[in-house]
Amino acid sequence: MVEAIHYFPEDFLWGTATSSHQVEGDNTNNDWWEWEQQPAKIVHGHSSIKACEWWKGRWEEDFDRAHNDGHNAIRLSIEWSRIEPSMGIWDESAVDQYRQMLHGARDRDLSPMVTLHHFTNPLWFANQGGWLNDEASRHFQRYARKIVSSLDDLVDYWVTINEPNVYIYMAYVEGAFPPGEQDLRKAVKVVQNLAHGHARAYHVIHEVNPNAKVGLAHNYRDMKPASPRNPINKWISKIRSTAFNDTFPRLVQNGETRFLGRKIRVPEATGTQDYFGLNYYTREFVKVDLRRPMELFGRGSYREEAVLSESEFIANEPEGLWEGIKWALEYDLPLIITENGVEDSKDTLRPRYLAEHIRKIWSAVNFNWMVKGYFHWSLVDNFEWERGWTQRFGLWALDVETQKRRKRPSAELFAAICQSNGLSSEMVSKYAPEIFEDMFPGKGPSELVADAS
Ligand code: BGC
Repeated sequence: MVEAIHYFPEDFLWGTATSSHQVEGDNTNNDWWEWEQQPAKIVHGHSSIKACEWWKGRWEEDFDRAHNDGHNAIRLSIEWSRIEPSMGIWDESAVDQYRQMLHGARDRDLSPMVTLHHFTNPLWFANQGGWLNDEASRHFQRYARKIVSSLDDLVDYWVTINEPNVYIYMAYVEGAFPPGEQDLRKAVKVVQNLAHGHARAYHVIHEVNPNAKVGLAHNYRDMKPASPRNPINKWISKIRSTAFNDTFPRLVQNGETRFLGRKIRVPEATGTQDYFGLNYYTREFVKVDLRRPMELFGRGSYREEAVLSESEFIANEPEGLWEGIKWALEYDLPLIITENGVEDSKDTLRPRYLAEHIRKIWSAVNFNWMVKGYFHWSLVDNFEWERGWTQRFGLWALDVETQKRRKRPSAELFAAICQSNGLSSEMVSKYAPEIFEDMFPGKGPSELVADAS
């Protein structure tokens, strides 16, 4: 069969990403669990409940799935509230359980990338003011030291904090994550304390292992002015993009940044990334909206012609990933796509989304840009925060009640990509024929089949 193949470099990382609270189940000792029990916080009153039962041992069958499908890496997170259930008290059995999981990953040839903080905080920490407390970074440092001294031999990449910008925005501006604040002054404080926490964790990890690879997973949301010739839209779009996308990366690159007109200085954070983790989902087009001061007087929406996900949460905009890669490479570090994916229970958009985004990464790799790996969000449907179980990001579908997993066609496509370390015309013709002509112009799927016979 005549085939075009977009090959990737030999040691390219292929995996999926998730976080503790979203998959473990019965995570009852953190601020998210408490939040979920309050009325009207989560769509339809959903709760993480059993999640994907990883804590009960189902990580084994899911790691088997990843291994059988040819993945060579996996990103997961440690649940701080399990390790340190009360301040200064360590639960060694929880540490052991994570050791077993990480051994399990390695036994299945999955290189582990481990996140220390993915949106959840232990209740005792939240009750002391969470990241607004000036002691927060010291608590985080102590936890980081415990984890790294117990698990470092099994971990290849560390992520200190997942998406500081999303966390700050959701918890302190929009108020949809605990503690549900809408206060820009508090947001500024949390930027600073999270940067302190990251810097302390970075240095502790390097004390334990000078060769460790440590970074953050930054969420990049591509923002463009809705009408490029309108100077106000252009200006607002730039201001919003700078505040959301650039604040944290600049702070950990240079030790200082400007955020909402204030200078934030965290000198010990200077140069504290060994690689750049990029989470990309979508792109938005920004218009001025004077009724939205908390949104910096702008409103983002999707293009009319964009293909939207099931609940219109994400627009399929692979070009935004291209922009994100260029943006991230400005930081002059090896780049890993630490998250990318789409909610799609029927799997009608995901194969296309996957192929188009991976093709952008291939283009970057072909320019010899330092892109080292790709983690899809996610392996199995998992608890989607304030959106509960209404959104399905898994390559595998999950029935939360019975805990049965069902393979979606995208899982097969991703397996084919991982197994051949490339994306081929045959894969696109089989799983996303609607974009074949666009990706491989000149030869339609029918001609390809004719050629083969
Ligand atoms: C977060 C994940 C989340 C995903 C999809 C990312 O911003 O890191 O925890 O599940 O988006 O909503």
